[in-house]
Amino acid sequence: MAQTVLLVGGTGNLGSKIATELARKDDITLRTLVRSRTASDSKKQSQIDHLAKLGAELVEADLNEKVSLERACTGVDTVMSTLAGWDDVVVTGQLNLLEAASNAGVDRFIPSDYSYDYTGLKLGDNYLSDQRIKVAEAVKKSGLNYTFIANGVFMEVFFAPFSQVFDFKAGTVEYWGDADTKFDLTTVADVAKYAAEAVVSPGAINTMFQFAGDVMSINDVIAAYEAVTGQKLSVRRRGSVDELKQWIENTKASNPDPWAVIPMQYHYGMMSGKAKLQHLVNERYPYIQLMKVSTFIAQLDTNSISGTGTDQGFRPQ
Ligand SMILES: NC(=O)c1ccc[n+]([C@@H]2O[C@H](COP(=O)([O-])OP(=O)(O)OC[C@H]3O[C@@H](n4cnc5c(N)ncnc54)[C@H](OP(=O)(O)O)[C@@H]3O)[C@@H](O)[C@H]2O)c1
Repeated sequence: MAQTVLLVGGTGNLGSKIATELARKDDITLRTLVRSRTASDSKKQSQIDHLAKLGAELVEADLNEKVSLERACTGVDTVMSTLAGWDDVVVTGQLNLLEAASNAGVDRFIPSDYSYDYTGLKLGDNYLSDQRIKVAEAVKKSGLNYTFIANGVFMEVFFAPFSQVFDFKAGTVEYWGDADTKFDLTTVADVAKYAAEAVVSPGAINTMFQFAGDVMSINDVIAAYEAVTGQKLSVRRRGSVDELKQWIENTKASNPDPWAVIPMQYHYGMMSGKAKLQHLVNERYPYIQLMKVSTFIAQLDTNSISGTGTDQGFRPQ
């Protein structure tokens, strides 16, 4: 069915890829919300130019100005958010957007999730899941149709130093819990493909749309790495899942910086099994090929792995 989609966050890492995938679909008119149609930095400008080249209508709006949001939402069927940031953007900004979408008569709201299944977690377990839990509650209360997109961890993030688990350059692995616990991993490009599919699939309406490129344990990843590279990893178990939770709480008490614990909060969700995806829809979409972890590892340039950003350590394909 023909629909107009307002993509919010289309200049971001995931959002720009979703824009590309949506533009490939028939019957989608793409509109993107931007802070401004021009940017002073060239990287940002190239993201804006990319959206324009896809044929997207660029609409300027401010997440704090409800009138501008309502204008952006007028005539829109689906609002899809890939916003990232702190509470002012992801909670307050998305709630403003939700209200505007509701006032403008939008049919469906897709908040910026792209995560594991946070419904198994409690408030306080993960700062960034708390944001999603609060927004999801408001989306359900709004009466709009919705889709929550769940893909597990981005492979680009899990295998980067940010996650503090695998360090391929140093040849080490450090984890908590049971090394046979399974978790879900998907590349950013594949998340974009499935996210665009969710927009056009009636089966995605009012569900948590769950998919994964691979479902693996720490031991599975170690075996895949050693098979692909022929190199052995040095493995250290740091403690049980309960000890991990204690470590997180102790660190929170002594360090007010949320980023001191966020990587390990994700590790807790994964290694406790509490955020495991339970209802993957992969089989419904055999025509979307998802990258496996072994292929991802084979394409990694370990020498370039450095820093803590989500995008680092990965050679773009
Ligand atoms: N599962 C995982 O492992 C994983 C890993 C990473 C990210 N994620 C999630 O994926 C989603 C997208 O993340 P990403 O990495 O693509 O983020 P990103 O590259 O930082 O992009 C964020 C987007 O939000 C926009 N934005 C931020 N603040 C804004 C504001 N005040 N007003 C308007 N726009 C604003 C940015 O616009 P500008 O370009 O104008 O700044 C940009 O388009 C998020 O939900 C993130 O948490 C999941």
